Amino acid sequence: MNPIQIAIDGPASAGKSTIAKILATDLNFVYVDTGAMYRTVTLAAIRAGIKLTDEAAVVALLPEIDISFKPGNPVQRVFLNDEEVTDDIRSVEVTANVSAVSAYGDVRTAMTDLQRDIAAAGGVVMDGRDIGTTVLPDAEVKIFLIASVHERAVRRFKENQAKGMATTLEELETAIEKRDYLDSHREISPLQKASDATELDTTGLSIQEVVAEVKRIIENKL
Ligand code: C5P
Repeated sequence: MNPIQIAIDGPASAGKSTIAKILATDLNFVYVDTGAMYRTVTLAAIRAGIKLTDEAAVVALLPEIDISFKPGNPVQRVFLNDEEVTDDIRSVEVTANVSAVSAYGDVRTAMTDLQRDIAAAGGVVMDGRDIGTTVLPDAEVKIFLIASVHERAVRRFKENQAKGMATTLEELETAIEKRDYLDSHREISPLQKASDATELDTTGLSIQEVVAEVKRIIENKL
């Protein structure tokens, strides 16, 4: 396949990264998890002891943050200034605060620049909230993945259980709804379906079924 850009956006825990990663492997494309970048900035700010409501302080930290990825299984490995933070960026504390940090304009500009640099290298599957609308508006394929809040919470609950993280299903539903609200209502690049994106509701579908459906959408687009 030609080295095209595939943008996969959608709300929290809709399965974007799972699907994007499988797709990138199958197509031999680069996979970019943009949520991991915002999570890494949030982790760096928490570790620096900065008040996350202090936008200027969070932004002042940006030059000291170097984010990089290495291939890994089942998840891509994430590094903050050469220290692996793959697990740390998935903590309850980072998840609860990432929407606040990702709403800051200068944080978004820095991450968007980095994402476009990576995408310039060739075929890419990038997942996030604003890829089809802002980061890669000319992407050849744009998918908007959704699923019911309950189903997304159940998926995350199972993942957390496997990792030994003790969060109840109710807590997860509340956290997912809150994050969706904040991400959809921020001023800059809110979570939004691009007008030329194809929406896919994954409620009740298996991973294999979603991958097959996404591949059908890609074939139809090209
Ligand atoms: O995809 P994930 O759930 O890991 O994203 C974590 C958070 O990062 C989102 O809730 C959102 O606040 C932010 N994000 C964003 N723009 C993106 C990707 C993620 O604002 N493109």
